[in-house]
Amino acid sequence: MHQVNLGMIGGGTVGSGVFHHLQQNGDLMAARLGVKLAFRKIAVKAFEEPRPYPITRSLMTTDWQEVVNDPQIHVVIELVGGTGIAKTMVLAALAQGKTVVTANKALISACGPELFAAAKKSGANLYFEASVCGGIPIIKSLREGFVANQFSAIYGIVNGTCNYILTRMKLEGADFGAVLADAQKHGYAETPPDLDIDGHDAQHKTGILASLAHGFWVDHHQIHTEGIRSVSKIDMQFAQQLGYTIKLLGIVKQSKVQSPKSKAGVQVSVYPALIPSAHVLASVNGVFNACFVRGDVVGDTLFYGRGAGKDATASAVLSDVADAALDLKNGGKARVQPFVAHAKAGRVVALDEIISQYYVRFDVVDKPGVLAKIAAIFGAAKIGISSVIQPEGHEGESVPLILMIHDAPNAAMRKALAKIAKLPVVKGKPVMFRVESLQ
Ligand code: HSE
Repeated sequence: MHQVNLGMIGGGTVGSGVFHHLQQNGDLMAARLGVKLAFRKIAVKAFEEPRPYPITRSLMTTDWQEVVNDPQIHVVIELVGGTGIAKTMVLAALAQGKTVVTANKALISACGPELFAAAKKSGANLYFEASVCGGIPIIKSLREGFVANQFSAIYGIVNGTCNYILTRMKLEGADFGAVLADAQKHGYAETPPDLDIDGHDAQHKTGILASLAHGFWVDHHQIHTEGIRSVSKIDMQFAQQLGYTIKLLGIVKQSKVQSPKSKAGVQVSVYPALIPSAHVLASVNGVFNACFVRGDVVGDTLFYGRGAGKDATASAVLSDVADAALDLKNGGKARVQPFVAHAKAGRVVALDEIISQYYVRFDVVDKPGVLAKIAAIFGAAKIGISSVIQPEGHEGESVPLILMIHDAPNAAMRKALAKIAKLPVVKGKPVMFRVESLQ
């Protein structure tokens, strides 16, 4: 039987998972693929670092170059992460003509075109299924399963840490800070948590999905990104009262054209949004990820699963290893290109061009005429209010006033909120979240 030799850089949580599951299911994979997969070398930070599954000592090295330079290794699996040394490793492997499998979302998102060009130059293949939504085969689905579709919308719950925190805030009525501290204590959130909490990880993943779905590479700087620090217990509760759940979403949506003069484009954003609690995405709880994909041919589809961890991510890495092995067996040329730029004129629309519905909460002085003043500013900006709540029983100098706003352009909304914030009857900064009806 044909044999493909593997080298891996990174022997931590995911790396040990890949090693373990290949040990467990390697024969099954060989039977399915007609190719035997065998590890030759695994570069680790330290031989004795704590890892969830053991790695055979004789395979380990602390020198990553031994993996990249081993002429008998056909496939290099990069699990180091980040855009520093990992980039050097991937480029070095590609330059040698070796197949690369990576789970590195930050690297693919920031340097995708450079890596694809390097792979093309040396005739090497590059695979990155594990970079988005861990064990969910969303990249393969977009590229292959849905190849006949145009994508009008993709909504992703792509960061397990944020989803875990928001779920607990909803179910326990807890504060963001308390849940974050507890999540860090129990290993559900990193310390520091910024990459997840501030939306950067979701931004990398959303950018990759958008690029593959729309055929032009989305520069991650163009992705409007908000994290979940602004989500408070009170807004979670009002959202629930109104029939909504707050989720951090990666959004890739064909934009609504505002006027005959405005150009079509794609909205690519990451922000906490209110979604209808009755929608299936609202029931995606805890660390789970989900991806809702709307194709013009297939209709609505939903993918659900674990987006991180030693096992789910290993499943995606091994799926890439399997594709890599089959491509090598069949002559070396990848059956599916990592990225095809089929829409060279594609563009990401600016945030101000985005039209959406909104939830807004003001702290206002509780006296007659306040609502009229706020409504007058929205009215003058041609922004329609769809509902209002001012809960009874709030005491103190100010009371919350919650408005649901009809479809409005972001620019108009931003300007109206700035004017309202200056009203003497409005205390503090208005809170605003977008509402995604998912229709
Ligand atoms: N930190 C990520 C998450 C997993 O919380 O989903 C790796 O991308």
